[in-house]
Amino acid sequence: MLLRFAPMKGIVLAGGTATRLYPLTIVTNKHLLPIYDRPMIYYPIETLASMGIREVMVVVGGKSVGDVVELLGDGSHFGLDLTYRYQSGALGIAQAIGLARDFVGGDAFCCVLGDNILRGPSLADVAAEFAASESAAGTMLYRVPDPERFGVAELDSDGRVIGFEEKPSRPKSDLIPIGVYFLRPDAFGVIERLAPSGRGEFEITDVLNHYIPDGRLFTRIYEGQWADAGTVPSLLRAAELARDDDAAGRLAPPVPRPTA
Ligand code: G1P
Repeated sequence: MLLRFAPMKGIVLAGGTATRLYPLTIVTNKHLLPIYDRPMIYYPIETLASMGIREVMVVVGGKSVGDVVELLGDGSHFGLDLTYRYQSGALGIAQAIGLARDFVGGDAFCCVLGDNILRGPSLADVAAEFAASESAAGTMLYRVPDPERFGVAELDSDGRVIGFEEKPSRPKSDLIPIGVYFLRPDAFGVIERLAPSGRGEFEITDVLNHYIPDGRLFTRIYEGQWADAGTVPSLLRAAELARDDDAAGRLAPPVPRPTA
């Protein structure tokens, strides 16, 4: 089902320095690295396209920004209308989302991190559910064996999320928010008032936490397979997920290069 509550806008975050992938990313942008048969950034672009979203802003930063633009162009070959914004420095996910304020205008939007590989059902229904809800923010939860690498959910005895901690040394669960965020323009005011975390970044988990006390956070379990591709082992795992989907006939060929 496509979005009933269009227009929802999309954002892909493709900045950062990707030091965890050195030397692979010394001279190139992480989001251009191959994941099986296509550049990494194709996956989040396809995630948004499969939700029925058409207007997408790609926030770029770090190395080879021009190559990202050359690769994706105006997005028409993905069925998208792409626009770009430059993020200087690596001040975190929330700060990068803040750069999309004018682009988003008054619409609800979905932000996908450029290194998040989702292999499973389209999130079109989840997006429609969020758009129709009273929730101000939403994310998809996923169980991982190494939660300390991510944001980690703390749950109450009824299984409700009561908070997220970013990269805790002692995770309170193995459930993490993946890099898919449903938000509304209200989030920009929250982002403006955020304080930087201990690692000097404006954290998306602080934005999500803001909406928990008054019950305005929306969470769903992601039912597919997920990997971030931000470390060497997870880069490999992401490629394996794509390869397995290809073997099972579930990986559509990469969008062909547009003819000039
Ligand atoms: C980011 C978020 C984290 C989330 C993760 C998912 O971490 O800060 O909450 O769980 O993405 O990929 P990063 O890997 O960018 O440090």
